Parts: sequence; structure tokens; C-alpha cells
Amino acid sequence: MKFNNVSYPPIFLLNTYRKKNLIIMLVAVSILSANFGRLEEEIISVQKAGADWIHLDIMDGHFVRNITFGPPVIEKLRPVTDLFFDTHLMISKPENLLDNFIKTEVDSITVHYESTSMLHEIINRIKDAGIKVGISLNPNTPVDVLKPYLDKLDLILIMTVEPGWGGQRLIPETLKKVSFLRNLRSDNPDNLKYLIQVDGGVNKSTISSVEKSGVDVIVAGSFIFKYNSYKQAIQILRNE
Ligand code: DX5
Ligand code: ZN
Repeated sequence: MKFNNVSYPPIFLLNTYRKKNLIIMLVAVSILSANFGRLEEEIISVQKAGADWIHLDIMDGHFVRNITFGPPVIEKLRPVTDLFFDTHLMISKPENLLDNFIKTEVDSITVHYESTSMLHEIINRIKDAGIKVGISLNPNTPVDVLKPYLDKLDLILIMTVEPGWGGQRLIPETLKKVSFLRNLRSDNPDNLKYLIQVDGGVNKSTISSVEKSGVDVIVAGSFIFKYNSYKQAIQILRNE
């Protein structure tokens, strides 16, 4: 089921739908597996196919071995669509380039817990710029590390594969973190407002266990871009 025209749904709305057994999961399409020579057209195509968010994977060849693109490319893509731009920074010391990303007018910026020792400062800078803020955890990083930040976060990104490449297999144990965060949020509705997102290995065969974990936003790249019809691929993930 598509979440009509609300790019960042408030938690209470998601919970209301769940109570009616209507599962709402936003689909964030990762353009990592798109044709990088035709990014503009690819974004327009996935928008037409029903994407809720565009997920931007930023890799620096240091925090992860792969390299993708940075602020100058995002700047050119920003006018192409009004979809929510969800920025996943897989870069060391994101504090150094943060202002450049903020200037591109993305809608959310997620940094890796493992990439910096300045999380408090980074969170404040992103929030002060009026941008949604997220923290991402690698598969081996326990969820307890988030404790000092939980009430400040708009988004928690649970990596279901090691960051760096598309097309990997989902690590099932990582979904326990999703359920834990979901229960924690239900138990503290006044303080915790984060959306829970998973990233990596989401496809036709893993979607049902992903859905059961209680996630709010799924990231999918290779499954969509390898499919002949992007629309059909997104419909499969939404169980339509
Ligand atoms: C991996 C990236 C993911 C990736 C997911 O480091 O963060 O966003 O694109 O790709 P798939 O859907 O192919 O696993
Ligand atoms: Zn990602």
C-alpha cells in the first residue's frame, strides 16, 4: 500500500494503520544500482513507478571501499523531483563535509555510528539546518550504542548487509534490532519518534521477514533496477 503524499509520516499515523492491519512501509529506492550515466531519467522512472523516497548512497573509498558520488551530483539531481531525498553517508568523519551536504537541500542525512566520534555535534548541526537526522548501524554494531541519541533521532538505519555494495544477501539476525527498536518506540511514545529503516538485500524472497520485523522504511536497489518493470518490482515489495 502506498502512503499517499506524505513523505515523512508521523509515527502515530503508522501505528493507526498497523492496528487496522494495514502495513505501511515506505519504499526508498537506492539509486546505487541505477544507470549512473542517466540518473535524471532513472529518478523520473522510479518516481513514476511509485517510489516514496530516493535513497542516496554516498561512499568515500575509505569508510567503505567503494566510491559513488557527492554534493555536486546531488545538487544537479535536486531539481529533478520533489521526492524525499534520503542521504546515507558512508564516509569517514562526516563532520568535515556536512555543510556541503546540507547545502544540497536533501531531506534527511544519516551518518554511520562507526564513522565519527562527534555524533552529538553532527546531530545538532543537521537538525539546526531543518533536515531530518538519522544514525546507521553496521550489522555487527549493537543497538545499545544508540542510547544517548535515541530521543533526538528522526530515523534509524539498520544495515542488513555490510555497507559498500548493492546486491548482497540480507543477514537475518540484523532484523532483531528492528523489532527491538520498534518495541522500544511503542513503550516510549512521548519520547521516541524515529522511523526505522533497513538497507541491503531487500527483495522478493526477504520482504516478508523484513515486513514482520516491524520496519517503517525499506531501501531497495538492485531488486528494482534489475527488474524489467520498476513499477512491478515496487508493487512486489509492497505486496500489491
Ligand atoms: C549498501 C547501500 C544500499 C544498497 C542496497 O551499502 O547502503 O543502499 O544500495 O542495495 P541492494 O538493495 O541491492 O541490497
Ligand atoms: Zn544505503
